[in-house]
Amino acid sequence: MAHENTFYITTPIYYPSDKLHIGHTYCTVATDTIARYKRLRGYDVMFLTGTDEHGQKIEEKAKEAGKTPQQFVDDIVTGKGGILDLWKLMNISNDRFIRTTDDYHVISIQRIFRKMYENGDIYKGTYKGKYCTPCESFWTESQLVDGKCPDCGREVRDAEEEAYFFRLSKYAKPVQDLLETGTFLEPASRVNEMINNFIKPGLEDLCVSRTSFKWGIPVDFDPGHVVYVWVDALSNYITALGYDNDRYDDFEKYWPAVHIVGKEIVRFHSIIWPAMLMSLGLPVPKKVYGHGWLVIDGGKMSKSKGNVVDPYVLAERFGVDALRFFLLRTFPFGSDGNFTNELLISTINTDLANDLGNLVSRTTAMVEKYFGGTIPVDRDSDPADEELIRLIREAPEAYAAQMDAFQPHLALEEIFKLIQRANKYIDECAPWVLAKDEANRPRLAKVMYNLVEALRVSLISLTPFMPDSCSKALDQLGVPWGARKWDTIVYGSMPEGAIIRKGETLFPRLDAAKELAELEKLTKHPSQPKVEPVLPDVSIDEFAKCDMRVVKVLSCEAVPKSEKLLKFSLDDGSGTPRQILSGIHKFYEPEQLVGKKVAAILNLPPRKMMGLDSNGMLLSAVREVDGKEELHLMILDDAVPVGSRLC
Ligand code: ME8
Ligand code: MG
Repeated sequence: MAHENTFYITTPIYYPSDKLHIGHTYCTVATDTIARYKRLRGYDVMFLTGTDEHGQKIEEKAKEAGKTPQQFVDDIVTGKGGILDLWKLMNISNDRFIRTTDDYHVISIQRIFRKMYENGDIYKGTYKGKYCTPCESFWTESQLVDGKCPDCGREVRDAEEEAYFFRLSKYAKPVQDLLETGTFLEPASRVNEMINNFIKPGLEDLCVSRTSFKWGIPVDFDPGHVVYVWVDALSNYITALGYDNDRYDDFEKYWPAVHIVGKEIVRFHSIIWPAMLMSLGLPVPKKVYGHGWLVIDGGKMSKSKGNVVDPYVLAERFGVDALRFFLLRTFPFGSDGNFTNELLISTINTDLANDLGNLVSRTTAMVEKYFGGTIPVDRDSDPADEELIRLIREAPEAYAAQMDAFQPHLALEEIFKLIQRANKYIDECAPWVLAKDEANRPRLAKVMYNLVEALRVSLISLTPFMPDSCSKALDQLGVPWGARKWDTIVYGSMPEGAIIRKGETLFPRLDAAKELAELEKLTKHPSQPKVEPVLPDVSIDEFAKCDMRVVKVLSCEAVPKSEKLLKFSLDDGSGTPRQILSGIHKFYEPEQLVGKKVAAILNLPPRKMMGLDSNGMLLSAVREVDGKEELHLMILDDAVPVGSRLC
């Protein structure tokens, strides 16, 4: 079991099937903030994130992109502007990054699968479902759309395939007990959801292998099967610590983990994952926290809706720290939150520019102006200080309680109460009035001291949320690096003699109207008019079988007794003229086309039309406008050499 002082926290491992958006960023920033908070509290933290790279969806996406699955995921994970770059930009402090295509993980998964097979929890059976023959895809009843193939819309047939199953049913009782005891799954509302929707209707054994596609980890003792992607993915949390592999050796030290996940995958983490761990004889996770979704106008973000908010755009415009802060300040962690640009801008202006930014700049400017940057030690207290000092003393504990309960928005609330109180204290004490009389110096010194203390305590608490900005502000306050620790968050711990300097403005005020207009342009990608796919997919190999070439029209004439047909004699580069007939007389007169370079497919079987041979087909762009066909022959630039292949 884990050591006393360790803390292991994870994000989901994301699918590298597309660029990540603000929803993924939200989860990773929240987890990062908690990890940083735990480090501040002195824990030995292991913070893991990564990517979930196998499965049919990735295989298909790669194919669409004309890449191998490995190339495809490499580009999204390690490429420019990819997932690793995004986490670097967002100042994510993960200790490790796992990719499920990493060798050590692959080996561990095969061992884990074999262990569960050998202990009898995985067995071979038949998986009954529906099969779409043209697509060669296996579907479950529930995946069908109107009883038809969800991909191509055609009829499906009953089918069976051999598959391995995990005895999930065997673990229904222990998993239910786990869900019902203590604080394993939070927020509490998710517990009832799991029990009512999944446990009560009865847990069925889970199909944990596939033979219908290849991009996965092969079952080593039955290599036609690949391991179900969720068994592969969930296990990352232990393989990344070195469970069943030699790459790392931290399992004893850090396991069990706290898993931060989105609400839609709570089921996998709070039912299937603990059952797998029980089967392996390992401790269950310390906690699963199911956070809410960021939605736009009440609906989930999705590429097809064109409403995916790009974290790069926002971070570039407003700063990484402002974005991190906004995400955690605005949305209660356990619930869904509606993302709007207005909210983003008003939060930056109100909390960061006004409340925090002003407190920093007013305080540092006054200490510089009145005392040349160092607060004198001769200080006079006053009953007017009591409320502020009480808040400085109480805020850290209240903040910590909320952080420990995974409520970052409430933790921030505690700190902002202190910040707002400190701003009010400035107005109450009116230092500019005190400064007019030399006799008030000790009183003025005390006021400034209290303000610095309020700020110092606030900034150390806010560091996990906004690491860079808080560090700059603590520099301005002259707080030495070694004194930015949790045990210094006590009123009166400000080192004497510190040199305080007004610095750059940390959070400039935004012109809301202007920013909104700009954002509107940048983040609402108007969705492209969608062209419905009219034909089923062909593979790149099938496509490559078409011999399409650039040809030159040597001569062209109308075919007698035909309204439509033109007869072409073409130079295809072979030295022998080629004859092709084309039904395009409605659109072109023969003389228009002589000497033109056009595109043709040459390896179609020869056809006879009106008694004449046609050896191929000219390519045209066609569409229907108001029920009328429009056609444009593909006429190519004269510079393109005859005989070139089109591919
Ligand atoms: O599910 N709002 O990966 P995934 C908030 N590979 N959070 C969001 C969000 C939104 N709109 N959209 C995504 C997978 N997320 C699996 C996980 S773990 C062993 C395997 C966050 O790329 C949220 O945390 O679909 C969600 O659970 C996760 O991204 C899903 O990422
Ligand atoms: Mg998902």
